[in-house]
Amino acid sequence: MILTLIAAHDPNLVIGKDGELPWHYPEDLKFFKQTTMGHTLLMGRIVFEELGEKLLPGREGVVLSRSQSYPHVPTFSSIDDALNHLSDKERVFVIGGGEIYRQTINMADELIITEIDEAYDGDTFFPEYRDQIGEVWKEKFRQESGSLTFLKYVRNRS
Ligand SMILES: NC(=O)c1ccc[n+]([C@@H]2O[C@H](COP(=O)([O-])OP(=O)(O)OC[C@H]3O[C@@H](n4cnc5c(N)ncnc54)[C@H](OP(=O)(O)O)[C@@H]3O)[C@@H](O)[C@H]2O)c1
Repeated sequence: MILTLIAAHDPNLVIGKDGELPWHYPEDLKFFKQTTMGHTLLMGRIVFEELGEKLLPGREGVVLSRSQSYPHVPTFSSIDDALNHLSDKERVFVIGGGEIYRQTINMADELIITEIDEAYDGDTFFPEYRDQIGEVWKEKFRQESGSLTFLKYVRNRS
């Protein structure tokens, strides 16, 4: 299974504020939809609530929570249990939030990042990884579009 973290962050690694995205970039939402369509998503309970406790159309998903269980979505109380359940999937996207990125970045194969060049107020952050670019993370793709830069990093296995 290829484990891919997908996130958008500002220059200070802000990803969220008050349980929501601090920004609205339709181009990034479109990119997220295109990239994840047809795949399986792993998310934390706060993100699932942000999505209205519904799975995104065209995508399967599982939720991580120690306090809730949902009748319509597989919910796991540990990352290991969730990943075991998903072990036959070719690719799984971790779609956040901050707690889940922090606990999975060390096992991730890829990072798909949207860098936002404007700074926002926030209370939730993507884990620091930029000091490992070159050594741990090899840049494989970069496309700039206005204030957004779409990037893909792959773990250096050599
Ligand atoms: N910019 C982006 O790309 C992006 C992407 C996603 C999210 N976000 C933002 O990030 C924020 C949400 O992130 P967050 O860190 O507050 O919450 P989160 O990661 O979505 O969810 C945290 C919850 O997940 C559960 N959890 C965490 N670790 C677990 C584990 N090992 N096993 C089982 N359950 C576990 C716990 O739920 P229980 O309390 O129920 O036990 C915990 O309260 C929002 O502001 C959102 O908009 C931004």
